[in-house]
Amino acid sequence: MPFSDYKTALVTGASSGIGAAVVERLRRENIEVHAIARSAGALEELAERTGCIAHVIDVTDRAAIADLANRVQFDILVNNAGVDRPKKFLEADEEDIDLLIDVNLRAVLHICRLIVPGMVARDRGHVVNISSIAGNYNFGGNSTYHAVKAGVAMLSNQLRIDAFGKRVRVTEICPGRIATDIFNHVHGDDPAVRERFIDGFELPQATDIADAIAFAISAPVAVNIGHMEITPTLQVMGGLQTAKPQMPTATSDAEGTKP
Ligand SMILES: NC(=O)c1ccc[n+]([C@@H]2O[C@H](COP(=O)([O-])OP(=O)(O)OC[C@H]3O[C@@H](n4cnc5c(N)ncnc54)[C@H](OP(=O)(O)O)[C@@H]3O)[C@@H](O)[C@H]2O)c1
Repeated sequence: MPFSDYKTALVTGASSGIGAAVVERLRRENIEVHAIARSAGALEELAERTGCIAHVIDVTDRAAIADLANRVQFDILVNNAGVDRPKKFLEADEEDIDLLIDVNLRAVLHICRLIVPGMVARDRGHVVNISSIAGNYNFGGNSTYHAVKAGVAMLSNQLRIDAFGKRVRVTEICPGRIATDIFNHVHGDDPAVRERFIDGFELPQATDIADAIAFAISAPVAVNIGHMEITPTLQVMGGLQTAKPQMPTATSDAEGTKP
């Protein structure tokens, strides 16, 4: 579909990383882009640089999103805002579970609820959901993040079923490690964090994800690119671990029998 058939876009999590790159990429196609995030300064700078329309909104603020959805007919929706609180699930904090569900999944569901019916009614639209390889593969980290990203992946498939018969396309973008500031946002603003996750690795940039999204959007209307897994070439997922049960040692056994 030529970009000229779409006029407006909503991009969440636009103040940095992938979201900011998507805003910039869509603006190059002359799309009217509405950019959402909480950081006013970064959004203001993005608006000055790209001409996007900035909205300082928390994605969990349903009233503010509903107000925007009532005022603008969006042709493109990019659900990108996301957070992580890595920790073994056995040590998970109550607030972290709620935050990940609220931002990474509940907000995505409500934004789709508010925007996709209009696309269906107009027989025109493209939803791009940013999930993660964490939604499809298991690796150590944070089980809540894996769980909510799996929810985003399943929602993306399900939207296609529910919009069946209309020209509403849905693309799930499933990134591996991408060189953004997410690792500093998650682990703290420490140079050691960049060294651990970014420096010295060959990683896709946020602009590479934005280009992939632009490719999916610009495909002919008869073409729905449903799922794109984009990882560093030098990254693979998978692994198998098998442990022997930890048998009590002679010492601990003896201790266990003490009164
Ligand atoms: N980078 C990677 O390696 C990677 C890998 C897999 C998946 N992803 C996913 O890609 C997406 C973008 O990540 P990124 O790497 O670009 O990270 P990032 O640089 O940390 O960007 C995250 C964005 O989400 C916004 N955000 C967070 N909470 C929000 C809230 N409550 N309301 C509105 N906006 C909120 C942030 O803006 P404010 O703080 O200003 O609100 C920021 O603009 C996320 O969904 C992430 O899970 C990234």
